[in-house]
Formats: sequence, C-alpha cells, structure tokens
Amino acid sequence: MSAIKHFLQFQDLTRDEYEHIFARAKIIKDRFKQYQTYHPLLDRTLAMIFEKQSTRTRLSFEAGMHQLGGSAIYLNTRDTQLGRGEPVEDAAEVISRMVDIVMIRTFEQDIIERFAAHSRVPVINGLTNEYHPCQIMADIFTYIERHGCIKGKTVAWVGDSNNMCNTWLQAAVVLDFNVHVSTPPGYEVEPERAGLYDTTHYESFDDPMEACRGADLVTTDVWTSMGFESENEERKRDFQDWQVDAEMMQIAAPDALFMHCLPAHRGEEVAAEVIDGPHSVVWDEAENRLHTQKALMEYLLLGKVE
Ligand code: CP
Ligand code: NVA
Repeated sequence: MSAIKHFLQFQDLTRDEYEHIFARAKIIKDRFKQYQTYHPLLDRTLAMIFEKQSTRTRLSFEAGMHQLGGSAIYLNTRDTQLGRGEPVEDAAEVISRMVDIVMIRTFEQDIIERFAAHSRVPVINGLTNEYHPCQIMADIFTYIERHGCIKGKTVAWVGDSNNMCNTWLQAAVVLDFNVHVSTPPGYEVEPERAGLYDTTHYESFDDPMEACRGADLVTTDVWTSMGFESENEERKRDFQDWQVDAEMMQIAAPDALFMHCLPAHRGEEVAAEVIDGPHSVVWDEAENRLHTQKALMEYLLLGKVE
C-alpha cells in the first residue's frame, strides 16, 4: 500500500503537485460555473473536525465535498468525546476507519500531526496556530488567475507573524517567490515555528511602507488570531502602525493585488478604502477556497486525474 498523503503544512506538496492542483482547480471551477455535474468522489465521506470557529472553511469543504458527489460530517469539540479528553490518537484510529478523508481545524500543529500519524486516511489542515495551507493555496491560485505565474514575484506581508504569515513563507520556498515581512517589534517571524528550512526567500523590514515598496501583492490578517484573544488589547496598541492603508497600496506595484483571508476588521489591520477598493480581490480569494480544495481532495483521494 502506498503511503497516505496528508496536507498538514504547505511544504507537504511539491511545486509539481501544486501545478497539477491549480490546473485541476481551474477545470473544476469552469465546469462548476457551467453547472456541469462532476462526481468523482461518489459515496466518499469527509469528516470535518472544528476546535475553532469558521465560516469559509466549513462552507467550502462541506459544499465542495457535496459537489464532488460525496458527503461531509461536521464535528466540533464541544459535541464530541474530544472535548471530554479522548486522546487524539484514539480519535484518529476510530474516525479514519469510518470516513475517507479528514479535515481538522485546531490549536497546536502537534495535535494535527499526532492525528495524522494514527490516521488510515488523508488529513487536511483547515488551520492551526502555526499554519493555514488551504488559504494560501487559494490565494496563490487567485494570484495566478489575475497575473499568471507567481515565481519571482514579491509578496508584502504586513502585521502579525501568524499562521498565515508562516504559510506564505513556506509557499515562497516551494514556489520560488519572495516575501517582504514587516511586523511590530516583538512579533517577528520565528523561522523554526514557521517550519522554514530555507530563509533565503524572505526579508524583514522595520517599516511596513518599505515592505510594500514595489510589491506585486500586499496582504495582511487580523492582529489577534483565534486562541490569542487574551492579548487583544495589548496587540491593538502594538499594531497601530501596521494597518494596510491607501499609502501602502500606492507605493506597491501599480497593478498590485490586496488580499486578506477574512474575516477582516476594517480600521484595524486594513483601511476600508483598501479592502473595498480597486486592488482588493478578497471575494475571489474566498470563493477560490471552494475550487482549490475540491482539486486538493480529488488529488489526495484519486491521485493525478487528467
Ligand atoms: N479564512 C478562513 O479560514 O475563514 P474561516 O475562519 O471563516 O473559515
Ligand atoms: N490568523 C487568523 C486566520 C483566520 C482565518 C486566525 O488564526 O484566527
């Protein structure tokens, strides 16, 4: 039996595999827009385990599995034995005997790694404290749709060195582009936490304006991620100067895109005129979660479908 393929962090797949997934996502998206039925995952079941809240991730996985002919089951910590302390390894043994694929949104990356080590079926990271690979996959697909290949381009990351930032940094290594990172003092990237074996694809800037200068894509995320709510007030003070505003978009490349994984806080990490302005592609980004994750599930379960 060949090894099970999991998607626990961005670097779990190669450039060649991403090229396949992006090509399939385009075909799957085009067919979907034409109301063509495509049921390669007939009778397959996806279990979705949520230990944190979600709108887009739940909806895109559940709708996506349904559209591929399968079904999805939503589980949350509160309603399962996981919430009463059942070991994650035991849960993995049981759940993976009953379904064909699992998506998990949880806290530490270690939890999903332990689950995957005991799973008989592919496990997908639907967000951990460290990474959010499904979102970056959708974001890069969105970039490619607008401007073609991302190789050699520059992404400016303004704000917290969180799960989104870490995943951009991994993606830069796999797909060979550059990331300019600007975080407030005390919130810098930790290469080891970001899972970086190669730090040649990013550069840190004290001044967020300098990070954005000439960038092809400017992106940010909430100042306080899920699970860090107790730091909210302190972060609001520390991040004041790290709001993506019109001036930052002005200094970026003339056709630069603005991205945000959502949900967003207008007036905090992004000015309303930017997220609601002409450079913003945030709704395409959200929609592309659906198409890219359908291509991902197809790949993890069926391999390279032509
Ligand atoms: N971007 C994202 O993952 O959104 P949700 O938290 O709504 O799933
Ligand atoms: N960094 C955010 C992303 C939400 C989709 C969080 O982890 O809460």
